[in-house]
Amino acid sequence: MNGIVLYKSRYGASRQYADWIGGDLRLPVIAPERMDEKLLAACDFLLIGASVYNGELLLKDWLEENEHRLSNKKLFLFIVCAPTPDVGKHHQIILDNIPRSIWDVADIVFLPGRWILRDLSLTDSRTLEQKARTESDPVKRDALSQDNDAVKKKNIDGLLRTVRSFATPAE
Ligand SMILES: Cc1cc2nc3c(=O)[nH]c(=O)nc-3n(C[C@H](O)[C@H](O)[C@H](O)COP(=O)(O)O)c2cc1C
Repeated sequence: MNGIVLYKSRYGASRQYADWIGGDLRLPVIAPERMDEKLLAACDFLLIGASVYNGELLLKDWLEENEHRLSNKKLFLFIVCAPTPDVGKHHQIILDNIPRSIWDVADIVFLPGRWILRDLSLTDSRTLEQKARTESDPVKRDALSQDNDAVKKKNIDGLLRTVRSFATPAE
């Protein structure tokens, strides 16, 4: 079976997960700019990963544009989010970013991400500061005010098992 790992990342957390996944499953890892119709048509399955900023998935537009090309593929989506994921918001992220027709062909997992404050653009660091100011929970407020890195290879263990059981033919 032909598979590919497609990712979009701003500061490298989603790219790190994509590289680990591609390395372990021996699949090519590519950014959306390098994906073309021919490559997509040749895939039986795709792992698609991207991070969330202010509720929006970085690959939201790409998924909408390519929705009709994905409905006959098996998809595994990995959504990279806050280092301490807010599970209560996951359903809304799916509703807001993933076209309905994709829900039927996709396994979706959320992976904890990271932020390193000195790496952030001015806009992004101001957004985090603003979130921290309006956060009433002191633990969450502290987490927003300092570096926070939950990107670990073991986080992809379950996803790798799921993909392997799909892509490896039964004996
Ligand atoms: C400005 C900013 C806004 C963010 N907004 C959200 C959000 O709405 N929901 C969420 O779960 N994570 C949010 N995050 C966390 C990112 O998804 C996380 O840092 C992720 O690891 C970034 O991955 P990347 O480096 O691949 O882009 C935000 C991070 C920043 C810096």
